[in-house]
Amino acid sequence: MIEQNIFSRRNFVKTAAAASVVPAVLNSSVFAAGQETIKVALVGCGGRGKGALGDFLKASEHGKIKPKIVALADFFMDRAKGAAKKFSVPEELCMAGANAYKDVMKTNADVVLLVTPPIFRPVHFEAAVNAGKHVFMEKPVAVDPVGARKIIAMGEVAKKKGLAVVAGTQRRHQTEYLNTYQAIGKNAIGPIRGGSVWWCGGALWYKKRNPGEDNASYMVRNWVSFAEMSGDHIVEQHLHNLDVTNWYLGRPPKSAIGFGGRARRKTGNQFDFFSIDFDYGEGVRINSMCRQINGSYSRVSEFFTGTDGATWGSGPSKKEGERFARQVEIEPISNVGNPYVQEHVDLLKGIADSTPLNEAENVGTSTMTAIMGRISAYTGKLVRWKDLTDESTGSPWYNLAMSPSPLDFETGTVKAPADDIIPIPGKEMPKKT
Ligand SMILES: NC(=O)c1ccc[n+]([C@@H]2O[C@H](COP(=O)([O-])OP(=O)(O)OC[C@H]3O[C@@H](n4cnc5c(N)ncnc54)[C@H](O)[C@@H]3O)[C@@H](O)[C@H]2O)c1
Repeated sequence: MIEQNIFSRRNFVKTAAAASVVPAVLNSSVFAAGQETIKVALVGCGGRGKGALGDFLKASEHGKIKPKIVALADFFMDRAKGAAKKFSVPEELCMAGANAYKDVMKTNADVVLLVTPPIFRPVHFEAAVNAGKHVFMEKPVAVDPVGARKIIAMGEVAKKKGLAVVAGTQRRHQTEYLNTYQAIGKNAIGPIRGGSVWWCGGALWYKKRNPGEDNASYMVRNWVSFAEMSGDHIVEQHLHNLDVTNWYLGRPPKSAIGFGGRARRKTGNQFDFFSIDFDYGEGVRINSMCRQINGSYSRVSEFFTGTDGATWGSGPSKKEGERFARQVEIEPISNVGNPYVQEHVDLLKGIADSTPLNEAENVGTSTMTAIMGRISAYTGKLVRWKDLTDESTGSPWYNLAMSPSPLDFETGTVKAPADDIIPIPGKEMPKKT
């Protein structure tokens, strides 16, 4: 049985004497002698940021740990204040601006939640790890190959420092997916030979530029419309399904060939749909598709075919009377039920047990997978994994760094890309920067 309630009091360092003999991670300020309060800060006080902080508080309750909010940072002060109101903490804890994250890292927070638009994640994650903070970070974690590699590299630094790193890829904390992962590993459908994955749904919100609004403010408010901010929706949403694929197959794809296009958007520079053929090697191909168009068929799921049977990512559909080809024994998962809360339970559990979970490589790899699909669709070219991960290939995509950059926001020099101008496959190659 995978134990869920790990927050037994014995896990906490109670005395200075004990502190001197425990592993380095337990010597961190989280579990300083006799202390059972965990200090948390939030960077990015939007919809998911407030949601993630609420989930962290619920997970702390499960662990009987007292959480204390020590900072709330957002690009806009009114959003930070909105979070202060929601969580009934003083407005003095609020910080604003593109540089506010730097002040967050100077606080005594034990854990930081990084929940801004994806463009900022590599820079914020690097700062958090350098400051010795445990991290929860939302997916996706980058918008370009340079950023995704930074996440993976800093994840290794976090490991050496004994820091916990949990990502918002919540299917890895969801009972149905954990069960299916186990079943596939125990040969319930035989080795996976192929599959299809989908994030096909409706349009998201968009914002128009206010009269006289500066570039930075407009791009932050309208971030789901710009590939430079979000990675495009193949990265921002479909990443979840690609993450399940990499997890179940145990490897990233070798290459991608894809296409996409734009049919209905009015702002920004993203596509409305993508279709990608991912080659995972060993004769395994995964068809991936994602679409944000109202009035079209919706499916957000994964389907895998093995040598002996098939399954959805979340397991055989009971409604359809489906079952695994082979009955296998599944180790019961003890789980709080809500995967968004379970992410934080697992974060805290790892800290308490001095076995910190580190999901940086997983989420960095899945983000890179989605970026590979996007580059293929934008350019119309075949993109190899090694083009993005191996400098010796000389690929122009290896050093692809989107512009504007996080630094442009920090220095107030953001140039907004033109609205409604999109990449033309076969013509536009990314600029080497
Ligand atoms: N795991 C999931 O199911 C899930 C669901 C929704 C969103 N998300 C992810 O969460 C992240 C945030 O999404 P959201 O829906 O909360 O968006 P949002 O627009 O509601 O919130 C983003 C917030 O970040 C702030 N911000 C922007 N740049 C900043 C900066 N440099 N420093 C500080 N604050 C900054 C914005 O002002 C805004 O308040 C995205 O990466 C998104 O993909 C994940």
